[in-house]
Amino acid sequence: MVYDSFLKYLMFGRVSFSSQEPPQVLPAVPYIGHLIGIFWYKNFYYTKLSKKFRLPIIKLPILGGQLYIVNSPKLIAAIERRPNTVSFWHIEANAIGRIAGLDRDAVNTVTLGVGDDTNSFWLKGLRAIHYAMVPGEGVNDMLLKAAQVSANSLRQFDSQSGAMRADLWKWITYEITLSHTDVVYGHRNPYRNPEVEAAFWDFAQGAWKLLLGKYSKFLAPSSYKGREKVVSAFKDYFGTSDPQSTSPLMEARTANVAILGTEGMARMECVNGLAILVNTVPSAFWTIVQIYSNSQLLQRVRDLANAALTKEHVAGVKRSKINILKIQQSLEIQSIIQEVIRLRTTGIGPRLVREDVVLHEQYLLKKGSTVIIPNRAIHFDERTWGESVDIFDKNRFNKSSNKAKVPPVAYRGFGGGATICPGKHFAIEGIAVFTALFTLKYDLRPLQRDWSDLEQDMRDMSLQLGSPNGRFLVDVVPCKSVLDSEWCFEL
Ligand code: HEM
Repeated sequence: MVYDSFLKYLMFGRVSFSSQEPPQVLPAVPYIGHLIGIFWYKNFYYTKLSKKFRLPIIKLPILGGQLYIVNSPKLIAAIERRPNTVSFWHIEANAIGRIAGLDRDAVNTVTLGVGDDTNSFWLKGLRAIHYAMVPGEGVNDMLLKAAQVSANSLRQFDSQSGAMRADLWKWITYEITLSHTDVVYGHRNPYRNPEVEAAFWDFAQGAWKLLLGKYSKFLAPSSYKGREKVVSAFKDYFGTSDPQSTSPLMEARTANVAILGTEGMARMECVNGLAILVNTVPSAFWTIVQIYSNSQLLQRVRDLANAALTKEHVAGVKRSKINILKIQQSLEIQSIIQEVIRLRTTGIGPRLVREDVVLHEQYLLKKGSTVIIPNRAIHFDERTWGESVDIFDKNRFNKSSNKAKVPPVAYRGFGGGATICPGKHFAIEGIAVFTALFTLKYDLRPLQRDWSDLEQDMRDMSLQLGSPNGRFLVDVVPCKSVLDSEWCFEL
């Protein structure tokens, strides 16, 4: 209540209209009013402003500069057509250099020619990742390996003697971290060391604070220490020659980052963990929460997973085999995951305006300003998504159902245009396979809190999806029908 009054006070400035620039929201406290709002509400501030004013774009004056908040699919499409002028890559390359702790020479290499030169370090690296992650044989192979790692790891919960207790967030974080890094880094995966895994998550929680450069050692000590531990593990990883192939993704990345030497490669790889894990883990977590909080949905997902399952006896051993291609073909499971991401997204798709540019012959964006695309505002706009906008709809993204179409640009879960997330298919399908395995194997009984008590932590401004607030303990009860079975996968 107090917070709401505070927000109203900040926002109840005037809106001023000019013929060329987007409408300007003047805060009650000049110069710093919006800064206070961002500091207080984090990414939610942009969403709240978008919802309040319901304009396609607004301008916030901040400390003599400006920030634009875009709230219209048409304008987002116009931005996506200009990836070099309204640039995500510039923000990304500069931020990553600092978050990784690269030295000045390495930062120069990483940022040189971003966006202008198609052969720049940055764009070559992204091209290689997109190429390696195109749906097909390579990605299917990664899905198969990840699934087998999960199956082996989950075995420890198959206790015959009753339920085991787990903190659901920690458990899913561990399983996804292990399976997704094993397929990328192969049998010498540094994350297999629990200390490195823990250090990575210390680093990831608040990694954006490392943007403070040399002060981050004191202002974000846990992220700083975590990073240095992961970097040290990757120095060992790259320092040892190993003829074994790891994954198409790793081969593509290594070829590009080798120019930075072992230290630079280790730092870049530490940051690459953010791309692979920090959005995949919460997406998997909230998918599991959504499914288990609704018994009908759980039954439906189990039916869909069962349709991809065969059981056999081999040399006296019971085997449950999941067909990954059938899970890939289940548009309903994938729709559930996309819908969970729609409802849980907290990302803001920041872009730097590199030249004055006019969008839709109407809105002038000034060079040097920042553009924010508040995913949550776009995903909760009933003008785009209809009256059911606030409700979970498992078939919203199911192309085989008769749902009214929404413009693809309005779904911001994986960005769009030239900067669309290259890991999109691997992430959705990997979560789908994990979910199939998990739901077939376990019942979950929450302790202390109910499913509906779970809230999202919105404080980390760099995430596309927030983690849960506080611990969520569950008793894990293995389903009897699958207890004495070995789990395997086929394509
Ligand atoms: C559910 C999991 C994931 C979500 C929700 C997610 C979401 C996103 C989003 C929103 C963007 C920004 C796009 C934009 O602003 O236009 C992005 C970029 C990116 N993602 Fe993901 N991502 C996920 C998993 C992955 C995985 C597994 C990888 C591993 C390859 C990955 C690699 C990247 C890279 C390299 C970029 C930068 C693309 C560019 O700058 O052109 N992501 N992701």
